[in-house]
Amino acid sequence: MEKRHVWWDFFVRWLKSAGLFSAMILFILGQGGLVQAADEGYAGPEACAMCHEELATNFAKTVHGQKADSRTPAAKHACETCHGPLAAHVNSGGDKGTVRRLGKDTNLSVSEINATCMECHQKGKEALWDSSTHAAKGLTCTTCHSIHGGHDKFLVKDVERDVCFQCHGTIRAQLQRTSHHPIREGKITCTNCHNPHGSVAPHQISANTINEKCYECHAEKRGPFLFEHRPVVEDCTICHTPHGSSYGKLLVKKVPYLCQSCHSNSRHPGTLYARDAANPGTNTYLSSKMSNRPLYRACLNCHTNIHGSNHPSGKTFTR
Ligand code: HEC
Ligand code: HEC
Ligand code: HEC
Ligand code: HEC
Ligand code: HEC
Ligand code: HEC
Ligand code: HEC
Ligand code: HEC
Ligand code: HEC
Ligand code: HEC
Repeated sequence: MEKRHVWWDFFVRWLKSAGLFSAMILFILGQGGLVQAADEGYAGPEACAMCHEELATNFAKTVHGQKADSRTPAAKHACETCHGPLAAHVNSGGDKGTVRRLGKDTNLSVSEINATCMECHQKGKEALWDSSTHAAKGLTCTTCHSIHGGHDKFLVKDVERDVCFQCHGTIRAQLQRTSHHPIREGKITCTNCHNPHGSVAPHQISANTINEKCYECHAEKRGPFLFEHRPVVEDCTICHTPHGSSYGKLLVKKVPYLCQSCHSNSRHPGTLYARDAANPGTNTYLSSKMSNRPLYRACLNCHTNIHGSNHPSGKTFTR
């Protein structure tokens, strides 16, 4: 084998320099084939570079192209691991018919494309792919990954969020709001919170619960607190929206309306016009006995420790 390689390399280089390469290929083809079909019709790892030289050179630089790692395509059937046994393709001078095509003009079904990759990627971050929303919506591995694209992690774009923005325009718009997680600033990225390959938690969140995800970066909100605020323990997204908000601090509503969606009957209601029990048919503003209109509306001025308090007198999350 080795001897043939040296001879072949030298021969091909000489032919190329003499401008005779394609003429030679055509000649050989006429004589009955470039390669002997080995087992199951594979052409072998060197055959492709004759006509797809640039792809082969670039492929050799990727993680998939590392022959020393026995798990990679390079260590299996190289190009033909994904594109199928291609002796016939080679010998026909490039007939597309027999090729497993994985790009835009693919001749494969969604599940056949995904199976090509899942053969090696059924463990790790991709383990829950089959039950993911993305799989249910008919996405394939090649929607986001391009094996020959030359980008980091084989992504179809240089910057990860641009991969997502192709379909998630609403999220992109939310990130333009004044208060937003610093994603477009590049400080964090979508996959800090989501696993686009699927997860056990809803919304493809890459943690067991939404709160566990938030605590990863906002550990001080975890507590434990002597006095807990129930909704905080339950789900941060009751009050916060994860991508962007116009109300400041990623809040879903403005204070006091946020608080009043649950606390409208507290002893010092922040509503403009509370019912005046002593004067049926009127309200506190009209009867002017205790108009609370200007008062108490900045709930957070007093209830500062809204995420929970450890102060002995902090039952109501005051200082
Ligand atoms: C003799 C030259 C030649 C050799 C050798 C060759 N190819 Fe091709 N290949 C072509 C040509 C020409 C086309 C374009 C055919 C067309 O567009 O109809 C092609 C197309 C392809 C495509 C499909 C591209 C698409 O449109 O999606 C793939 C994949 C491919 N080759 C892979 C391989 C692999 C893998 C090998 C090595 C086993 C290989 N080729 C060896 C000439 C060759
Ligand atoms: C023959 C096995 C095999 C096949 C088939 C395969 N991969 Fe891989 N892939 C690997 C190995 C091995 C690695 C390196 C993993 C590691 O270092 O942990 C890898 C790494 C990757 C990475 C990470 C790249 C990086 O820069 O870290 C991505 C993304 C990937 N593969 C996507 C795909 C996609 C998409 C397909 C299908 C088109 C595919 N793989 C098919 C074996 C394979
Ligand atoms: C919706 C887009 C999307 C789809 C679909 C997708 N991926 Fe990914 N994948 C990504 C992004 C973004 C990353 C980089 C961030 C990360 O590592 O989580 C990534 C990373 C990876 C990695 C590297 C993981 C690591 O441990 O570093 C592998 C391997 C991978 N994908 C394989 C696949 C396979 C196999 C499929 C199909 C079953 C697939 N991907 C489908 C977006 C996608
Ligand atoms: C891990 C699987 C995998 C391996 C290994 C692989 N390819 Fe591909 N190939 C793909 C996918 C997926 C596409 C679709 C376009 C893309 O993702 O970049 C593709 C597209 C192509 C195309 C057509 C599109 C283009 O960019 O011209 C050719 C030709 C091709 N591959 C040849 C090769 C050759 C030659 C090798 C070996 C050096 C090889 N492939 C190794 C998965 C693979
Ligand atoms: C080809 C289009 C496409 C691309 C690219 C894409 N998605 Fe999606 N994604 C969808 C569709 C369709 C849905 C389901 C409908 C929806 O919620 O918008 C979805 C849903 C989601 C969901 C909600 C899942 C759920 O169960 O509620 C998350 C989170 C998500 N995508 C994150 C991402 C991330 C992160 C990326 C980039 C790495 C990405 N998506 C890239 C099409 C895409
Ligand atoms: C700080 C964590 C975090 C980051 C970063 C993040 N998300 Fe989310 N995302 C969430 C949480 C939590 C939910 C579920 C709760 C909700 O929607 O209110 C969610 C829900 C979603 C949904 C489904 C619900 C919807 O609003 O349509 C999509 C789609 C989505 N995210 C896409 C993205 C994309 C794309 C990116 C990157 C541009 C991204 N996310 C970045 C935390 C995050
Ligand atoms: C990967 C790390 C990370 C995760 C996970 C994360 N955050 Fe953040 N969060 C940040 C960063 C970084 C900032 C910006 C801090 C700064 O600018 O000082 C931020 C800021 C915030 C802010 C203040 C926004 C403002 O306008 O001042 C809120 C509220 C917030 N996050 C809530 C959440 C919630 C709720 C979750 C869970 C869904 C979450 N975060 C998950 C990193 C994260
Ligand atoms: C009951 C509503 C509510 C819930 C639930 C809630 N927050 Fe907040 N959060 C607020 C309010 C109101 C502010 C604004 C405080 C201010 O402006 O002083 C805030 C501010 C923040 C900030 C930015 C300022 C700071 O204190 O660091 C972060 C980060 C934050 N919340 C994280 C979280 C996390 C993580 C969770 C879930 C564990 C959570 N929040 C649950 C109401 C809530
Ligand atoms: C999703 C509903 C919800 C929202 C929104 C909410 N809370 Fe609460 N809050 C509760 C619940 C439930 C309790 C626990 C009541 C109990 O134990 O009787 C509570 C307790 C409190 C307490 C302590 C009451 C007591 O008697 O110990 C204060 C003070 C309080 N919340 C203030 C606020 C403020 C200020 C906001 C706005 C930033 C707010 N809450 C937003 C549901 C909410
Ligand atoms: C001027 C300071 C101040 C402001 C502003 C304020 N509170 Fe209070 N709040 C208190 C104090 C002090 C207590 C404890 C009263 C007690 O223990 O007798 C309290 C008690 C509470 C309680 C628990 C007792 C009850 O009445 O049910 C809730 C709930 C509450 N506040 C919600 C709110 C909401 C919602 C807002 C904004 C609309 C708000 N507070 C604005 C000082 C304030």
